[in-house]
Amino acid sequence: MDEPALQTLEPGAADTTAAAFCERLGLWDEPARSGRPRLVAAMVGSADGRATVQGSASGLGSPADRSVLRELRTAADALLVGPSTLIAEGYATVLDAHQRERRTARGRAPEPLVATISRRLDPRLADVPLLAEPQTRMLVLTESEAPLASAGADLEVARFAPGALTGRAALEHLAGAGARVVLTEGGPSLLHALIAEGLVDDLVLTLAPALVAGEGRSVLHGPVFDPPVALRLEDVLRAEHHLFLRYVPVS
Ligand SMILES: NC(=O)c1ccc[n+]([C@@H]2O[C@H](COP(=O)([O-])OP(=O)(O)OC[C@H]3O[C@@H](n4cnc5c(N)ncnc54)[C@H](OP(=O)(O)O)[C@@H]3O)[C@@H](O)[C@H]2O)c1
Repeated sequence: MDEPALQTLEPGAADTTAAAFCERLGLWDEPARSGRPRLVAAMVGSADGRATVQGSASGLGSPADRSVLRELRTAADALLVGPSTLIAEGYATVLDAHQRERRTARGRAPEPLVATISRRLDPRLADVPLLAEPQTRMLVLTESEAPLASAGADLEVARFAPGALTGRAALEHLAGAGARVVLTEGGPSLLHALIAEGLVDDLVLTLAPALVAGEGRSVLHGPVFDPPVALRLEDVLRAEHHLFLRYVPVS
């Protein structure tokens, strides 16, 4: 299967692939930590920082961006995705067949667990296509007593006491389920909360060659960070006019 080439910006360095990039991050070999898993965040933003075009991130992507996201998913034990993102993006089939095969060859379940935190249990979650996929394992973390039924997926609903469902509590729950690496794909509100709690270890930000403007979500949505969260730039890759930046928050 042909994967889009990613150029490193170091002079003389060979091109790489999304799979090789993820391999180098050590996600497959992440040791179990006490307390919580390693949390990698992946987002795509326009050059002016917007996270959506007409309500969806898909207008900002590219084949290389899709490849990076899917390879990060391949190496993750669980995905953590905000309920509004699952709904807005109509989440379905998170991996391609060759990625499922690589996971099983390495002794992993064919698909990562897909988890969401919806404290009030957004009723629109029932219509997310993933919930109808028999190969999907889904975990809904909530503070609500409202029911949620699967339409075919392997669904677990974990109930928390009101006020108890923080990002850390969610990650601890995922660690208890055996997750060593969790990939959060936002959205901007959930990502803000996870960064505010100091839980994000790596931020893989794709910068799309587009200017969007308007009032749509930016990559991070929430109260101002004062002082700003400082980031250390660890990796820069390029595919055509998309840039792939990996940052590590500096505490
Ligand atoms: N460009 C990108 O890479 C990208 C990535 C993802 C999404 N998006 C776009 O972003 C939009 C959705 O993002 P969003 O920010 O509206 O929603 P979101 O982050 O996907 O979900 C927000 C929901 O998360 C729940 N949540 C759980 N814990 C939270 C906490 N501590 N703080 C805040 N919320 C918490 C809340 O629901 P409860 O009240 O039920 O807890 C909240 O309403 C969509 O348009 C999507 O297309 C873009």
